[in-house]
Amino acid sequence: MIELKISNLFMIFGDNPDLAFPLIEKDLKRKEIKEQTGQVVALRDINLEIKKGEIFVVMGLSGSGKSTLVRCINRLITPTKGEIMLGKDKNNILEAKKEELIELRRKKFGMVFQRFGLLPHRTILQNVIFGLEIQGASKEKMKEIGEKTIKAVGLAGWENSMPNELSGGMLQRVGLARALAVEPDILLMDEPFSALDPLIRVNMQEELLRIQRKMKKTIIFITHDLDEAVKLGKRIAILDEEGVVVQVGTVEDILINPANDFVKTFVQNIDRHNVIKIDYITRDNKVVLNPEMNPSDAINKLKKTRSTYSFVVDQDHKLLGRISLDDLAKANAEGNKTIESSIKQCKSIENIATLSDALPLLITSKTVLPVVDEDRVLLGYASEKAVIKVLKGDGLND
Ligand SMILES: Nc1ncnc2c1ncn2[C@@H]1O[C@H](COP(=O)(O)OP(=O)(O)OP(=O)(O)O)[C@@H](O)[C@H]1O
Ligand SMILES: [Mg+2]
Repeated sequence: MIELKISNLFMIFGDNPDLAFPLIEKDLKRKEIKEQTGQVVALRDINLEIKKGEIFVVMGLSGSGKSTLVRCINRLITPTKGEIMLGKDKNNILEAKKEELIELRRKKFGMVFQRFGLLPHRTILQNVIFGLEIQGASKEKMKEIGEKTIKAVGLAGWENSMPNELSGGMLQRVGLARALAVEPDILLMDEPFSALDPLIRVNMQEELLRIQRKMKKTIIFITHDLDEAVKLGKRIAILDEEGVVVQVGTVEDILINPANDFVKTFVQNIDRHNVIKIDYITRDNKVVLNPEMNPSDAINKLKKTRSTYSFVVDQDHKLLGRISLDDLAKANAEGNKTIESSIKQCKSIENIATLSDALPLLITSKTVLPVVDEDRVLLGYASEKAVIKVLKGDGLND
């Protein structure tokens, strides 16, 4: 489901934005438009669809328009033109009235900033419940939600401390808890970790992924750091220096098929082995078998698809093992009623494994391996050939 849809969004700073549009039509650059009209075209014709429950990363260099985009979304500023539709009712945020806007900012969006923005004279708990207080929540509710979210970000025991007693990483956890406390539909995070030390930063990224596995929030995460982007985002939008979205795609799409030279230069130093997940090269199995099948039916199934082996799954589609045509022929000759006793154990790869995790396994197995999810549900298969193809940069179109 689409949680937020942005269509044809423009943000032009200046006293007379209309002056800029004819020049935008002519494809003039931000700098030229500023020189000729005094208007700053921060965002140009942005179209994005953000899905419910995903971490959607917006990446771009300094000045590309990332913060401007966030401010348009939560309506801290009013876009010059375009549409922003929220939720399943498709409310156009740009048409919201004043009271609706206040409501929107307080309840629909949670914001986490680079510089935590905590109130220095309030305790951690008081900071976290700040948004609830503004909403007029009851004392009991504030205490309950406050303590719950503080625990969720790993700060239990710090409720009554003051901000100056906490480290940067801890302060950012407070910032995150404060945003989560209002139970927003969408969490907007504008470079939240970029003021942190590199190690703490990695730590916080992992923490966010951990929290997200439970909370499954819709998160728009802004960063200028590609490593951070590929670590957190399944889908990434790249803004160029003109405030144009030059590519939206999965991490793999962007690495393997960069849309233009700008993106190509951007991603050239990324180590594909460690970023691309096995999911990307996983293919559907032509055939799968169930243990209750009789050997001759199984043989027919394999022959129909010209397969020499198949994986076997239970009724929940969880992987049980593998079986070859030879094994089936033997079971048939022995008069076995089902194929169950012929199933052989086999190694498998979890879909979130990176290519560098999976390659040694594939090489030593000398055969394709089944790909499973965290519950061992069979998703497809992976081959050494496909991994090498992607690492060589060939893409997957054969
Ligand atoms: N209030 C404003 N008035 C005029 N120009 C502005 C205003 N706010 C932002 N801009 C311009 O819009 C462009 C985008 O700025 P923005 O702050 O969104 O970039 P950013 O991608 O968030 O950069 P950074 O990574 O440095 O935070 C810049 O050229 C900036 O100078
Ligand atoms: Mg910014």
